[in-house]
Amino acid sequence: MFEHVTAASPDPILGLSEAFGRDERPSKINLAVGVFKDAAGQTPVLDAVRTAETRLLAEETTKSYMPIGGDPAFGRAARELLLGADHPALAAGRVVTFQTPGGTGGLRVAGDYLKQNHSGKTLWVSDPTWANHHGIFAAAGVAVKPYPYLDPQTNSLNLDAMLGAAQGMREGDIWLLHGCCHNPTGIDPTAEQWTQIAAAAQAYGVLPLIDFAYQGFGAGLTEDAAGLRAVLDVNPEALVCASFSKNFGLYRERVGAFHVVAKDTDTAAVVGSQVKACVRRNYSNPPAHGGAVVTTILGNTALRTQWEAELTAMRDRINGMRTALQAGLDERGVRLTPEGNGFITRQNGMFTMSGLTKPQVQALKQDHAIYIVGSGRINVAGVTPDNLPVLCDAIAAVTGG
Ligand code: LMR
Repeated sequence: MFEHVTAASPDPILGLSEAFGRDERPSKINLAVGVFKDAAGQTPVLDAVRTAETRLLAEETTKSYMPIGGDPAFGRAARELLLGADHPALAAGRVVTFQTPGGTGGLRVAGDYLKQNHSGKTLWVSDPTWANHHGIFAAAGVAVKPYPYLDPQTNSLNLDAMLGAAQGMREGDIWLLHGCCHNPTGIDPTAEQWTQIAAAAQAYGVLPLIDFAYQGFGAGLTEDAAGLRAVLDVNPEALVCASFSKNFGLYRERVGAFHVVAKDTDTAAVVGSQVKACVRRNYSNPPAHGGAVVTTILGNTALRTQWEAELTAMRDRINGMRTALQAGLDERGVRLTPEGNGFITRQNGMFTMSGLTKPQVQALKQDHAIYIVGSGRINVAGVTPDNLPVLCDAIAAVTGG
């Protein structure tokens, strides 16, 4: 029965973690998958999460099914975190939220919804983008095309090329934007550039789909939402997939939110009913635990303050490692772009697009047991004071620096 089945290729990100697990060299370093590590190389359970979980365990009364859209209290909390509690779209009741199994689950629901309700439209993704975007939307049957994003010479945003491509989008097409901490490049538009992107989406009549997986990892919770809010200021309709894997450290609990922002309440309800049907056919209703943790923390002043401090500490640690990585490479005479290594501290969030070539990435793995993604993406959130010199030496060796 299975003879005709051929093996699938390993996942370009999680497949590397599997290969890492099989690697027996004690010096191995995993900088592939986007997971935060503390200075000791551990991915901790946040203290605010632990306290919330203790309370939930004591207070939980049932394991019965969740509503298809998840807990309404979670939806409210997630919307307010996204837009700010006083955003007019919330008062107008034109945002509908679905609690989803991670950001990935939300993206797949978005894909199913788009395939079934926006037939014939193209979804545009940045080149490069998170590798799984391609897989998710292909699996949903949505046509995907790339738009330029990165200027490889300087490792910065090529806004002219991006806006030029937007001109070629057809009305009703979908424009996938990374809300902050672009994955894999770490390169985000400036406030002024967001205004231009928002205006282009409005002018060409495209539907923004914002992937928002790193709120709080760039400059802060409010600062990181500024681009998304600028898009919504001039585009009354958009889709947003948020993840709480990174900012709450809830990776394995699978918690995210899919928001439909519509021009009015009635439209939001109609679109929401279609999304609900997609969820029911996909995973029926979401897992409860991670969402309950998020709702508990966001709804309690002391826990929220504690969480925000823990989030700030994670962000500060990553930024400290960015500075140290840049300095370590400079000291060894490595220049990852013709303009040097300054891009490392200009990029945001967990990742840096190093500019390392595929053979160099391969040599890092083969000769130095250092795993980074094939595109050259390094998870800076996995760099620690201990592994930093090893990483810098290895990059110097593979680049001949
Ligand atoms: C990543 O990009 O490494 C993370 O978002 C984890 C994943 O699921 O790929």
